Amino acid sequence: MYSRIAGTGSYLPEKILTNFDLERMVNTTDEWIRDRTGIERRHIAADGQTTVDLGEQAARRAIEAAGVRPGDIDFIAFGTTTPDLVFPNCGVLLQERLGCRGGPAFSVETACAGFVYALAIADKFVKAGEARCALVVGAETLSRITDWTDRSTAVIFADGAGAVVLQPDPQAGILSTHLHADGAYKDMLYCGTGVSKGFPDAKPYMTVKMVGSEVFKVAVLNLGKAVEEALTAQGLDKSALDWLVPHQANIRIIQATARRLNMPLERIIVTVQDHGNTSAASVPLALDVGVRDGRIKRGELLLLEAFGGGFTWGSALVRY
Ligand code: UT7
Repeated sequence: MYSRIAGTGSYLPEKILTNFDLERMVNTTDEWIRDRTGIERRHIAADGQTTVDLGEQAARRAIEAAGVRPGDIDFIAFGTTTPDLVFPNCGVLLQERLGCRGGPAFSVETACAGFVYALAIADKFVKAGEARCALVVGAETLSRITDWTDRSTAVIFADGAGAVVLQPDPQAGILSTHLHADGAYKDMLYCGTGVSKGFPDAKPYMTVKMVGSEVFKVAVLNLGKAVEEALTAQGLDKSALDWLVPHQANIRIIQATARRLNMPLERIIVTVQDHGNTSAASVPLALDVGVRDGRIKRGELLLLEAFGGGFTWGSALVRY
């Protein structure tokens, strides 16, 4: 038994922040941002619009695409770094909105790898016969923890949401998932505030800190290993892949992974120019874009991958 992606959905808040807007906020240029990251614009949540608000829109679209009803959802795994509340978790808040009571609902807090982790967990439950209609969401309002005076991070992060519905299928679906973490890198990318550690009044403590160039190097190395690990686990050659659906952090990281796989850029779903880095939302957002514009077709082989703070990273090999 496999868990098959029955439907995908995504949602982006209305407000668009361009590189030219950022030129007026920090000491940067459109040219630098495009050259060094590939980003041209990104979406930012409205005041009062929360992570669950974004996730709900994406979830409803995925549910519709899967041809099921909200009440059919019996399992929710919600990847996010920017939850609405300390608790209840975002999965529970979404469950209440969808009106699908009783099944497990939880959030997964593994930064940019949040969706891939949540997908891997949901996959196991579906395969084991313990969930029949699982909803997996990745959603973020990273703008709330972005330091808009720090040019090294303000130009990268953004808001958005993506979701998939998983259902059991005897033929094909998620072939394997591969998760990793290395806490030795905890100081390379973090937000140094929290319930137990405290919420100091000083705003700088509540924002993302990143040693960008170091994160870049480790991301390229580990994502390269992760995609090869997934192919080796299934005894597949690189040439078997139809699409790479990567985490959209930086076009140069995506290109490095593509080189490792000998994949032309035409076989990679790239949304970083329009979405920026939406952390846990980036992979399901890119997947939904590729599905809805008709590039990704049923039966094709996809490799999903993500890398984020922790560090945490992982991949999923999927027969769509
Ligand atoms: O999604 C989770 C994982 N996160 C990532 O994967 C992000 C990984 N890191 C990156 O994408 C890149 O490291 C960044 C885009 C964050 C930075 O690009 P970089 O090429 O690594 O730049 P850098 O930090 O090495 O800085 C190069 C130069 C520096 O100037 P000097 O010292 O050479 O004079 C920076 O001060 O670029 C300068 N710089 C900027 N200039 C204009 C840094 N940020 C900016 C900026 N605009 N926004």
